[in-house]
Amino acid sequence: MPALVVTTSRHPHPAHLAEASRWAALLDAPVVPRNDLSLIRLTETHGVPGVLVLGGDRVTYYEPARDLLYFFHPGMSRRRIRNLKAANGDPMITAMQVGPGDSVLDCTLGRGADATVAAHVVGLEGRVVGIEKVPVLAWLTVDGLQHYEIEDAATREAMRRVEADCADSADFLGDQADGSFDAVYFDPIFEQMVAGASSMVPLRQLASHEPLTREALIEARRVARRRVVIKQPSGSPLWGRLGIEVAIVAGGKSHVEYGVVGE
Ligand SMILES: C[S@@+](CC[C@H](N)C(=O)[O-])C[C@H]1O[C@@H](n2cnc3c(N)ncnc32)[C@H](O)[C@@H]1O
Repeated sequence: MPALVVTTSRHPHPAHLAEASRWAALLDAPVVPRNDLSLIRLTETHGVPGVLVLGGDRVTYYEPARDLLYFFHPGMSRRRIRNLKAANGDPMITAMQVGPGDSVLDCTLGRGADATVAAHVVGLEGRVVGIEKVPVLAWLTVDGLQHYEIEDAATREAMRRVEADCADSADFLGDQADGSFDAVYFDPIFEQMVAGASSMVPLRQLASHEPLTREALIEARRVARRRVVIKQPSGSPLWGRLGIEVAIVAGGKSHVEYGVVGE
């Protein structure tokens, strides 16, 4: 039984019908006619929790039973790129210590905001690869990074250069040669939600919550030529569990820390 179906808005544009088939192939899910049904009726009729809807100017994923509505947006990437251009820095980049021409592997791509900021910093000569495990999230991010219209040219150009894919990063790391990326990055879902992070709720609902394991960290260290960087909330139990030193505290109102393994 598929986990989701793909449909259109009630009055679809012919382009949405063609797009629906492309998404269905990506997600290994059937395309079903909307038939003027509500989304809850549609999921009940097909016995699936989720439905991806092509309509208007965006692609939206719904799981009516748990009130989940998710679509791609670039998060804080534009503001962070502006800060970098104003020489105000970015704690993730400080932790990664990457610059023009470097390569970054983001093992927890999510909606790709961190990968976009890294792509801005490494520039045209650099490379950012982003891996996301949850298929509907991964493909919405692949599509959003390529097509989301954002006025800010620097952010748009960085988004387009992220090489995003759907895979388990443990498998992806296993296929990489030693030292093949300058930095490897993990931003696992925080065990407890940080206050004021309500914009993260739909992503948290949809994401894989698996914690970073010692095995993945060892593999990441092998693949990272210089360092592995992990993002967590202040005082995360992960630091003690994996023996990670916290190198960068985001500061300001942020409750985020970056642990670093490597040189
Ligand atoms: C907190 S989110 C990352 C947000 C991201 N840094 C951003 O800027 O949008 C963590 C993501 O990692 C994904 N994830 C968890 N384990 C993974 C794995 N083994 N391989 C690939 N992705 C994974 C989750 O599904 C989730 O989307």
